[in-house]
Amino acid sequence: MSELPRIVSAPSPETLPAEWYWSEDAWQIERREIWAKHWVLIGRAAQFAAAGDYVSTELAGYPVFAIKGKDGVIRAFHNVCRHRASPLVQECAGHVDRISCPYHRWLYDFEGRLKGAPSMEIDKDEYGLFPVRCAVWRGLVFVSIDPAAPIEEWLEDIAKAALRYPIEELQLAREFTIEAEVNWKTYADNYAEAWHIPTIHPGLNASIDMASYRIDTVGDTLQSHTADTRDGGKTDGFWVWRLPGLFFNMYNWGMNVAQLEPMGPRSMRLTYRYFVKDLDPAKREERDALIDWAYMVAREDIDICKAVQKNLETGIYDRGRLSGVHENGVIQFQSMVLKAHRAG
Ligand code: FES
Ligand SMILES: [Fe+2]
Repeated sequence: MSELPRIVSAPSPETLPAEWYWSEDAWQIERREIWAKHWVLIGRAAQFAAAGDYVSTELAGYPVFAIKGKDGVIRAFHNVCRHRASPLVQECAGHVDRISCPYHRWLYDFEGRLKGAPSMEIDKDEYGLFPVRCAVWRGLVFVSIDPAAPIEEWLEDIAKAALRYPIEELQLAREFTIEAEVNWKTYADNYAEAWHIPTIHPGLNASIDMASYRIDTVGDTLQSHTADTRDGGKTDGFWVWRLPGLFFNMYNWGMNVAQLEPMGPRSMRLTYRYFVKDLDPAKREERDALIDWAYMVAREDIDICKAVQKNLETGIYDRGRLSGVHENGVIQFQSMVLKAHRAG
């Protein structure tokens, strides 16, 4: 593991070491010291209409799922059977009448209690599912392994920033995921600056007034991006990032909530959820065009991140320097990561 870099208050601090963008050691520190302590958006409360409806994902490298109980409460568990560790639910989202392990049919109830262990005499109370913290905020369902703060506190600054947006009244127009062989920090570094917009996103650049683009940072937790629209531009913007991986992108036409999930030292997944003010069929074309356009911007980011990731792994580059003028957001993000490494 590289020696910790001496940053972070210099005018043009050094970047994090390249090795942190692919090494297993760095990933283990970041899973434990960053991702396990934060909340990750797993789905919408509307996806849990009936008891037995579930959503599964990967959280800080752990497969987990959330499921609605007969009492109406959504609970989350590690997706691992207590017998011999098989995954329990198979799909990203679905419904089960009971949690029945597909391997040897151990059976659990929706509260995670072991109810059946065929051909065994064991104390079932000792073999319930491993719980994961789960919370619902404004119709969105979050999970966390070992949260440093309750969800209300964790989202406090975002809640203030998002107050003027009627999140609950928006309708889901499209949801999709992008997986890429990219370290999660490569993506985050890119998100944390707008300097690349004229070079990487010509369409977005034509839409917003880059002279008005502003990034404000709050401690280790929040980053907000604002920009005015250009005359005839497709979108104005107000983007809030709750570190490490929750992005609320609010536009005049609706909202995109994106969740970044690291899946290992070299892989990540992004889930986008596009919400609009109404799902009027007459406006479908217009709506689709906006979402397709936003998707194109996302792909442009992923493409440059893949190219950067490849170069970070070649061994020729170790640390670069960051601009205090254009990369204040990157400096904030990398400082947070650095602190986590120091703690780990
Ligand atoms: S691993 Fe689940 S029943 Fe055997
Ligand atoms: Fe970008």
